[in-house]
Amino acid sequence: MSELNNIALKILNNGKGILAADESTTTMTKRLESVKVQSTAKNRLLFRETLFSASGMTEYIGGVILYDETIKQITSKKNKIPELISAMGSTPGIKVDTGAKVLAGSTNEKITEGLDGLRERLKEYYKLGAKFTKWRGVYNISKEHPSKLSIQSNAHALARYSALVQECNMVPIVEPEVLMDGDHSAKECYEKTSEVIKKCFEELILHKVDLKGIILKPNMILDGNKCKNKISNEEVAKLTLKCLKASVPSEVPGIAFLSGGQSEIEATENLNLINKYNDTNFIMSYSYGRALQQSALKLWSQDTKNVEGTQKIFNQRAKMNSLAAQGKWSKELEN
Ligand code: 13P
Repeated sequence: MSELNNIALKILNNGKGILAADESTTTMTKRLESVKVQSTAKNRLLFRETLFSASGMTEYIGGVILYDETIKQITSKKNKIPELISAMGSTPGIKVDTGAKVLAGSTNEKITEGLDGLRERLKEYYKLGAKFTKWRGVYNISKEHPSKLSIQSNAHALARYSALVQECNMVPIVEPEVLMDGDHSAKECYEKTSEVIKKCFEELILHKVDLKGIILKPNMILDGNKCKNKISNEEVAKLTLKCLKASVPSEVPGIAFLSGGQSEIEATENLNLINKYNDTNFIMSYSYGRALQQSALKLWSQDTKNVEGTQKIFNQRAKMNSLAAQGKWSKELEN
């Protein structure tokens, strides 16, 4: 087995998933201000350090995606952040794109940037301890979106990024996120997501990316958040599986979903059903940001010294998602 395949499996095996703690400073500032905490480098570190040192990290979190600021920070106990994560039994990773910018030639669409100088930045992150990376392409659904241009250009960037990351001996997380914003139906989400993922693999193969050494991070198939006719969780799970079965090559070892604005319970319940019905060889796990952190952040914001209480909430969410990644979750376990 290749080294990269081993890393991917270590991150996702045994019901483990990924904590996406790679919010940019702008995004993290929004999250902190929403709970009335000032967004200073110290506070951003304090919240993240509280999560990274929680006991749930060891059993349920196979990897943590960091942001450039965080991977270089030193904890209150004078450890480097990647060392803390490794000591907890998890794997440090890093977001390497530099954000989504307006896509020239299109209206209301974005292209993710960060390829310039990427090879050099990857070497630096590798030295800092990163074993895997993340790049997110973002697509929105409307009558004319995502356009062929956005599907093509984001797939191309994801493939160039992945090839560079593997060259540097790290596992690329390939994240094409079709947003849930809008009044579109789940059927439209299914069609657009299928097209987006298929194009990504076409480009990954063209760029000679080893598919056994990547992790796919897709959205689930959901109806738009403004859609009036909601489909059931069972239908979400079945459509998501149908989409991935038809568009993901079998070499890919694992799929780790983003939560994308679902509530914590919704994200857990849908993942659980996906695993209940999973008739593929793919590991189906989580790479959640908001759905792992929201409640913990809320409690922490009331008293930033309440390490134990914050960790307890985080441990519970991590445990629930780990059970869901094995199809063993039920609502009763939430209490
Ligand atoms: P959410 O789970 O909050 O969507 O974040 C995951 C992520 O990494 C988005 O890029």
